[in-house]
Amino acid sequence: MTSELLIGISELSTNDPERGGLLGRVADAAVVIDDDVIAWVGRAVDAPAADRRSDLGGRAVLPGWVDSHTHLIFAGDRSEEFEYRMAGHAYQAGGIRTTVRATTDASDEQLRAGLAERRAVARANGTTWMEIKTGYGLDVTQEARLARLAAEVTPDVTFLGAHVVPPDTDADDYVALVTGEMLDAVRPYARWIDVFCERGAFGPEQSRAVLEAGRAAGLGLRVHGNQLGEGDGVRLAVELGAASVDHCNHLTARDIEALGSSSTVATLLPACDLSTREPFPPARELLDAGATIALASNGNPGTSNTTSMAFCVATAVLQMRLTIEEAVWAATAGGARALGRHEGASPIGAIMPGYRADLHVIDAPSVSHFAYRPGMDLTFGVWEAGARVR
Ligand code: NIG
Repeated sequence: MTSELLIGISELSTNDPERGGLLGRVADAAVVIDDDVIAWVGRAVDAPAADRRSDLGGRAVLPGWVDSHTHLIFAGDRSEEFEYRMAGHAYQAGGIRTTVRATTDASDEQLRAGLAERRAVARANGTTWMEIKTGYGLDVTQEARLARLAAEVTPDVTFLGAHVVPPDTDADDYVALVTGEMLDAVRPYARWIDVFCERGAFGPEQSRAVLEAGRAAGLGLRVHGNQLGEGDGVRLAVELGAASVDHCNHLTARDIEALGSSSTVATLLPACDLSTREPFPPARELLDAGATIALASNGNPGTSNTTSMAFCVATAVLQMRLTIEEAVWAATAGGARALGRHEGASPIGAIMPGYRADLHVIDAPSVSHFAYRPGMDLTFGVWEAGARVR
């Protein structure tokens, strides 16, 4: 076993509830890593010896970002659609089919290379864990292929065959395929199942059928809900005990109350909201109601072509009125909760003994700089499972 002592930490955000404040911040801190795990956390003056020692020069350290919602296995470009939208047209769920065509035409090698590049950029910007959804295949062979390639990069693969109904296909026939043959083909590679429960995509009964079939096959549940208008996504997610309901732009008072008293995480996607010009979700009301919030990038070619969690955090603070602490927590510990990875073997999302050693060192004395200096590349160093990757 090799140990490494990190010193020269001006501010350490631990997410340890025992240390006060939401982020459990420690000043003049040190961390000891044993192989891939955090072994010790505290004030530098109390730090034990280790095999190696790295001085971070008075910089702030926080847990690596946990990006709990991405669609990063795809090919093609939708910048024309984006430009059209920015000229005043509304986002249409049907744009997904453009990416399905490009993705289907791409070879495994092309898809693998595109995903590797996106993963590397995210990692260089502090993302040490990500979920990846299928959903740009929409037939049995293609969905299984996307899940297989995504599983090479993360254990958190989500089956999103129910992303949109393919052209010239009856919606109920397609749901039968998703819940039958397609689910069987994707199952070996996936941990989660998801459905786009929205007008223009899948209705409440179709969504329920998808989620129940996924659950029967042993998958955890996630829902795309209430993105483009009020609807049944949140209600269904809470009723079925989904780990997360994502988007949440259009919530009724009842939806907010339901999320406030459930364990379903509300995952908010601020970069997507900007890119689709949807109203931001009622983040303050959700927090005040007692809901758990995660922030994620929603990296995809249609509605959120970014993997920058720092941008999401800055937007959540500056536009959605989260505090710095709430936003940083939501993008780290919140993401871990949305993926059920905040506990159990090798938990993530906090810098506490026993957690996987995922650390993000920024060239700033405090995490407040994410919103105080928006748009700046603050990442100085990244440790993923104890290894320095930037
Ligand atoms: O999360 N809402 C559905 N799925 C994606 C959009 C994907 C696309 O337009 O390509 C989202 O925003």
